[in-house]
Amino acid sequence: MKQTWVIANWKSHKTISESLSWLESVGPRIEQSPNTKVIICPVFSSLSAVKEAIVSANYPLEIGSQDISPFGIGAYTGEEPAEILKDLVSLSIIGHSERRKLFTETDRLIAEKANQALKSNILPLVCVQGKDTPVPDRVKLIAYEPVFAIGTGHPDTPEDAAEVASYFKSKASDMIVLYGGSVEPQNAEAFLKQPSIDGFLIGGASLDADKFVEIVKSSQRRS
Ligand code: PGA
Repeated sequence: MKQTWVIANWKSHKTISESLSWLESVGPRIEQSPNTKVIICPVFSSLSAVKEAIVSANYPLEIGSQDISPFGIGAYTGEEPAEILKDLVSLSIIGHSERRKLFTETDRLIAEKANQALKSNILPLVCVQGKDTPVPDRVKLIAYEPVFAIGTGHPDTPEDAAEVASYFKSKASDMIVLYGGSVEPQNAEAFLKQPSIDGFLIGGASLDADKFVEIVKSSQRRS
């Protein structure tokens, strides 16, 4: 069965109490479904509270982080190592274009982060900006996020995104490829019609409980 991934990237938004209100609104409206994986990536400070709320209400949601340390446990002030994060998250977003640009992350650093995640059984979700972005070894989940589409209201076309997804799949047939960049309830169906696109990484629209639920429901209707 084809699985569709719907991942919320909240970036630096939502206090702990806002995160919990969002969950109370979204959690009961998401049906458990073997063909959809729904993962929420809040800020680090909310991970614990969000995890507790998901587990205690038994919502069919998983938790991810928006970054991860390129190092292990040790003298790395401010970093969040995989060996500790693994108790809270099943996935880490790595190499988002905002991190590449604002925090000067390089392909090499991103590969170190992916390696750390894999060593602790955290699934690395590596963001690629186009066909020429390298995918680190052993990474099997990527999100194609063209910079022009992020937070602009101007998504890539589903056809172009599908072509990029097919390109990465032609290099590794088991690669899972998500699309991200101005995904909204109104355009999600068009992307879901493209067989090479395995789901979404959603920024802005994921902050809104109703919009997020709508996108999850469209994904669950995908045949
Ligand atoms: P957007 O962000 O949905 O707000 O365009 C996507 C992302 O940056 O992951």
